[in-house]
Amino acid sequence: MTARADRLLRARLNAPRDPVLVTRRLALTLPNPARVPELVQLLRDPRIARWTLNIPYPYRASDARTWLRRAPARRRAGTDLILHLVRRSDRALVGGLGLHHFDARHARAEVGYWLGKPFRRQGYTTEAIRALCEYALRRLGLHRLEAKVLSGNAASVGVLRAAGFRREGRLRQSVVKQGRFRDEIVFSRLAGDRPRTGRTRRGRPLSGSATARASAARARRPRAPRRKATPSKRSP
Ligand SMILES: CC(C)(COP(=O)(O)OP(=O)(O)OC[C@H]1O[C@@H](n2cnc3c(N)ncnc32)[C@H](O)[C@@H]1OP(=O)(O)O)[C@@H](O)C(=O)NCCC(=O)NCCS
Repeated sequence: MTARADRLLRARLNAPRDPVLVTRRLALTLPNPARVPELVQLLRDPRIARWTLNIPYPYRASDARTWLRRAPARRRAGTDLILHLVRRSDRALVGGLGLHHFDARHARAEVGYWLGKPFRRQGYTTEAIRALCEYALRRLGLHRLEAKVLSGNAASVGVLRAAGFRREGRLRQSVVKQGRFRDEIVFSRLAGDRPRTGRTRRGRPLSGSATARASAARARRPRAPRRKATPSKRSP
């Protein structure tokens, strides 16, 4: 890792700003230790345990406290940016997401996320991941964002596709989960990727950034008929 790139990334990560990001419905905030009871309630969920690798089950208050205690140190060290998703309308904690395994030399990081059961299928994770990607690729200066999904996790694949990630391939039996080798599917989004247009199954636009909306509008706009080329005076 180049020392300069590493220092720069750490400085950007530690800019003292909270919430780190705000979207239409959500605030992406630094984790708040007062949220332990809500965190436990949401993370004590077999579905989250089933599809993630590092969230213990059953999830206990001590797990939440350890996680929350470590988060600021990880940010200072430039290894992880851990964020809570707070609904702006009522300040409810709805989920969590983060950038992990920062690698300043290669300008890349991995995205991870979960959402509480009562809040699913309302587009919250997609909204948050899109904002986090813009932040990571533009403000933090990263070039590549990666996500690894356990094979079969259709919800997570849906989120990544809606947030402009592309499938790269399958890592065969790359992790052990509950004593069994499991495949992971790798997705990525690069700084230069053109946003995808179109809609999810429920009709939400696939890419929601201003750039994506502008390019979708351009694609929809009818083209003016081409004018016939007038022969140039210099042509024979
Ligand atoms: C994956 C998860 C974060 C999705 O959160 P969410 O906020 O409900 O997702 P969104 O509402 O943004 O869904 C976006 C798209 O993903 C797809 N999707 C979401 N949930 C789905 C499901 N249960 N089944 C199939 N597709 C699903 C849909 O295409 C959806 O778009 P649509 O609702 O317009 O059709 C949530 O289900 C979760 O926490 N799962 C357990 C933990 C986990 O899997 N974490 C990721 C590890 S890689």
